[in-house]
Amino acid sequence: MKKIVIAIDGFSSSGKSTMAKDLAKEIGYTYIDTGAMYRAVTLYCIQNKLIENGRIDEKTVQDSLSDIRITFQLNKDTGRPDACLNGINVEKEIRSMEVAGWVSLVAALGFVRRELVSKQQEMGKAKGVVMDGRDIGTVVFPDAELKIFVTASPEVRARRRVEELIAKGVDASYQEVLENVKKRDHIDSTREESPLRQAEDALVLDNSHISIPDQKKWLLEQYYRVINE
Ligand code: DC
Repeated sequence: MKKIVIAIDGFSSSGKSTMAKDLAKEIGYTYIDTGAMYRAVTLYCIQNKLIENGRIDEKTVQDSLSDIRITFQLNKDTGRPDACLNGINVEKEIRSMEVAGWVSLVAALGFVRRELVSKQQEMGKAKGVVMDGRDIGTVVFPDAELKIFVTASPEVRARRRVEELIAKGVDASYQEVLENVKKRDHIDSTREESPLRQAEDALVLDNSHISIPDQKKWLLEQYYRVINE
């Protein structure tokens, strides 16, 4: 059967990761969470004190890029891949509010983006991948056969994020998360390097009021339509 690249872009906490993971599992594709890669670089910066006193030591981050190895390891309990930083599973740490507070700024650094985009292109070159992020359909795989742009209101997204964090045992307040969601939307869509924007040939999905099963059904229909073209 024909193998394709499926690019799923959209705002933070729009539910795109859940969608992408479930789709990948259903069709036997590899799921690549590119947000987790930017989060892992951010975690590395925090752990190595490259983010201190409210600023990023860009020069040292750039010099350290070759020391940052990001891989994914299948979690047998969840059936989904966990992010690893230099061989250590950091799936929980990269979802902390501290990482969330810095990741947009780290992801706005051109040299970080170039490094991760090239890794992502390498990971997807054999096709058969579902990749989610902000610039997959526009920059990483502009020729992806299926592009989806997911959106939902900031309030809906903040509520989802709080539930997700609580389920993972991470403490979170709705107000704090809502502010973080709005701040990240702003930074992600106004940065100079590959801002978040919809690819012209992407299908838009506003999932504010769509159930997960309906969304899944719609996505599968799009997948079968494209592979049967
Ligand atoms: O999807 P997420 O919330 O885990 O993404 C974390 C951050 O990384 C978010 O602020 C946007 C950024 N990001 C990006 O700039 N490009 C991507 N391809 C994926 C994520």
